[in-house]
Amino acid sequence: MIDFSNGYCVVETKNLEILKDLRSKIYDEVKKIFNIKELNIDEGFNLFHNHIKNETAGSLNSKRIELIKNINKNIDITYKIYEAFEDYIVELIGPDVLGQKIANLVIQIPNDQNPGEIHRDAPANSPYEIVMWVPLVDSYGTKTMSILDYENTKINLKNLKENNNWEQLEKNVYNKSPQLDVKFGQALIFMTSLLHGAKINKEKTTRFSLNTRFKNIFAPSGLKNQLQFFKKIKESNLVKYGSHIELEELLK
Ligand SMILES: [Fe+2]
Repeated sequence: MIDFSNGYCVVETKNLEILKDLRSKIYDEVKKIFNIKELNIDEGFNLFHNHIKNETAGSLNSKRIELIKNINKNIDITYKIYEAFEDYIVELIGPDVLGQKIANLVIQIPNDQNPGEIHRDAPANSPYEIVMWVPLVDSYGTKTMSILDYENTKINLKNLKENNNWEQLEKNVYNKSPQLDVKFGQALIFMTSLLHGAKINKEKTTRFSLNTRFKNIFAPSGLKNQLQFFKKIKESNLVKYGSHIELEELLK
């Protein structure tokens, strides 16, 4: 059993080969788009910033968008992440699983002044979803995620409502977040309602990380159109035969 009492946990894949294969396919696209010759995947990701020194911000951004489009077109990232962490996902949300159609890739180069702003994914997303945050390199120090547990999220949102002090909330998230070192091969799983974000990466290496979301087929949807953003990953026999019977009844 995993301890999810704080609304988040770090877990280790039981199938590293799937993650290695996913990482290698993504790196192939990175090499192509950014014209990188480095063969060692770990070096290529970690020292990515050295290869893009002459790129303008505009060109970098359009290549990043192209990269996300290509990897999602060529690889079923959400399904691969599901396979790599299946036991944990099923334990948390049950055997009838919807997964996000398009996975996100975040690149955080050293000293990038625009790290992910503090936010919550819910209520835009359903509070009954989980986020899988999967780094493609070892993430530690300032190169990892900041997150508040459920209780501290509640306290800080209440304070924000009363004082409207966004800077204080940001400080609290950074100060009260546990140090979550997440290695390649591990994932951070967290509830969509938790406050989270990233600090400026003060390490010497670049962070590449994936994120995607999972929910139970029967869980209430958020504000986003469920059919547009999610697809079926796995279903129990109950849902399989139940939906057949429902369809037969409809077609009578
Ligand atoms: Fe988020």
